Amino acid sequence: MPGLNPVVVITGATGAIGSATAEQLARRNARLLLLGRASNRMDAIVQRLDRDNKVSSVEADLSSLASIRAAARQISRAVPQVDALLHIAAVFTTEYEETKDGFELMLATNHLGPFLLTNLLRDRLAGTGRVIMVTAPSSTRVDMKQLLDKNRFKPLRTFGATKAANLMFTFELARRAKRWDVRAHAYHPGLVRSELMREASRPVRFLTRFVSRPPTRAAEDLADLVTSPAFGRTTGWFFKGGRRIDPPKSTLDVDAQRELWRHSAELVELEEVGF
Ligand SMILES: NC(=O)c1ccc[n+]([C@@H]2O[C@H](COP(=O)([O-])OP(=O)(O)OC[C@H]3O[C@@H](n4cnc5c(N)ncnc54)[C@H](OP(=O)(O)O)[C@@H]3O)[C@@H](O)[C@H]2O)c1
Repeated sequence: MPGLNPVVVITGATGAIGSATAEQLARRNARLLLLGRASNRMDAIVQRLDRDNKVSSVEADLSSLASIRAAARQISRAVPQVDALLHIAAVFTTEYEETKDGFELMLATNHLGPFLLTNLLRDRLAGTGRVIMVTAPSSTRVDMKQLLDKNRFKPLRTFGATKAANLMFTFELARRAKRWDVRAHAYHPGLVRSELMREASRPVRFLTRFVSRPPTRAAEDLADLVTSPAFGRTTGWFFKGGRRIDPPKSTLDVDAQRELWRHSAELVELEEVGF
């Protein structure tokens, strides 16, 4: 169970939900390691939240496997224990973009990056650590062949598949991580005002802006998932607000979860480390 000053690694802390969550956790006296790309926004948030040297940044591009490996080493050197790892970062693009590792950008940033980072931090999370994946109730089929094929790229489909992959990864992780006494939960924030869908079509942008809310509630929920003892007794749950919800049926196929794990491990060259 996290103590009075939980050590929390957060991705996406420069974004709408991530920055509000970092702020909420700083208020609860967490020691925060904000993992993300170097930017003025990152510097500003560290400066704003840092009291008593408890908030720092760890430079990492989640679309780059080498960058994630370097960041995981830096975190492992900096802290002996990670009480929670919060995956909040994500990207949406309308054009096919290929990363240095040869993957489509959304697949790399939204799924493969978090997959690798979580596995590399296994020994720091071991012994009551919590992994919390921010995602959405996506029922898009996760077809790796399609996701890896440039000619079959469809922006919303690819994005939806990465969000479904987040759920499948969380459920498989929850089973595997029991051996290390690590918990895994997924969280859906509902529609929150942000720039995430800035490249989406006008009607999608209009709709999301019109019905979305500020990130305050999501930040409080996420801080509760990190700090509340209640969530340390369960694993493999999907939440919206403080409530457990049913994930889409398609994400619950255990064989498909295992296959996604196996394929992801192969793509990021996980080899012997990891859950
Ligand atoms: N907003 C919603 O309505 C909604 C609904 C359901 C689920 N969600 C989920 O909530 C999470 C946060 O969304 P948001 O709305 O807060 O998005 P956002 O404001 O656009 O924030 C996205 C964050 O991801 C980071 N990021 C993107 N690419 C990165 C990379 N290659 N390396 C490192 N960091 C990277 C961004 O960092 P930079 O500053 O470096 O760009 C930023 O901090 C996402 O997982 C999203 O799928 C959101």
